[in-house]
Amino acid sequence: MEPGQLNEREGLIYLNNAATSWPKPPGVIAEVTKSLQDPYFEQGRTTASGAIDYPAAARETLARFFHAEKPGHIIFTQNATDSLNLLIHGFTRNTTAPFHTITTELEHNSVLRPLHALEMNGALSLTTVPFTNNHVSLAAIKAAIREDTRLVVMTHGSNVLGSVQDIKPVAEYLRTNDIFFIVDGAQTAGHIPIDLSCVPVDAFVFTGHKALFSIPGIGGFYLPDPTAIAVTKQGGTGSDSGSLRQPMEMPTRFESGTHNYPGIASLYAGVRFIEGVGLATIERKGRELTASFVQALKKTDTIIIHNKSPDLPIVSFSIDGIDNSEVGFILARAYQVITRTGLHCAPLIHRRIDGGRGCIRASFSWFTTMEECRVATGAIREVAESAHP
Ligand SMILES: Cc1ncc(COP(=O)(O)O)c(C=O)c1O
Repeated sequence: MEPGQLNEREGLIYLNNAATSWPKPPGVIAEVTKSLQDPYFEQGRTTASGAIDYPAAARETLARFFHAEKPGHIIFTQNATDSLNLLIHGFTRNTTAPFHTITTELEHNSVLRPLHALEMNGALSLTTVPFTNNHVSLAAIKAAIREDTRLVVMTHGSNVLGSVQDIKPVAEYLRTNDIFFIVDGAQTAGHIPIDLSCVPVDAFVFTGHKALFSIPGIGGFYLPDPTAIAVTKQGGTGSDSGSLRQPMEMPTRFESGTHNYPGIASLYAGVRFIEGVGLATIERKGRELTASFVQALKKTDTIIIHNKSPDLPIVSFSIDGIDNSEVGFILARAYQVITRTGLHCAPLIHRRIDGGRGCIRASFSWFTTMEECRVATGAIREVAESAHP
């Protein structure tokens, strides 16, 4: 299927894929429908319907996609925020307080806020490592490590700067120093290859509704060794139901209550769609769109580009002399170009790059076309030039 074929809203140019992707592949929508048409599947039960066991199928598919050795250690949650909360609070509950934690200025509030809350109640002390040239280096992390450092939480890809962090050397160093490493892959999963068989992260977080093309409300994490994370949510698992104790087997250990079946079905179909197109093809197209977008914006002096060579299909910019939200409003109303303005839930990045004022972010998906980028950059330049005639 060709990109662009799916945009049935005549004229609308959707460049807010880093928030949530649109459109979704037809196969995703079909799988959601099928998951609702078929009776609920209950593995090993008399009520088993013969329908697809979506949780099992999605775990297998995601494990293949991320080169994760243990499909049963892929846990489903609502989204990346839910995963990060479960992991950060679960780790803290299991660790003698107070301990030292390292995070980075590149983080989203889904990392910063749980850590801040725990710092405020005295459960941990926190060092936030700065970024240089849009990246956080192993050297910067090493410099922040203390005797009592037990946890590092770090984004894989910045949702504002589009920079991918080199997590492999960090993971290897932290593993040898027995420091737990949580990686937030919300912006990288689906855009670039992720091979967890050769990167020893302790927990890798993903979300479905961005580049994995699922519907909102489904995400998860891969946790090869669950022992460091306390179970903070108990309930029915459909297993060992005579016991009042939460089962400790994976994945039920962290998955109580009825699954989000349509969400899991959509995630399963989204990843299969990516496999069908080919991740390398998707990544290459993202780089081409991004490079041409940056090239076009560079032609107007009053457009300030905050990330001129991003690794991910994200371009963040401001227009000299015009408020960001006004630009976003004009682009949407006058040109039907949908961007995301403001702080993008990443306040520490904005303090560094634009004095905390925020900016305008354009982000692309496999379905974005070169022609859409051409029209959108033309619109942005027109807005900038009309402010400085
Ligand atoms: C880097 C990063 N982490 C976490 C999140 C939170 O993702 P979710 O909406 O799936 O909770 C986002 C979403 O914007 C993000 O960009």
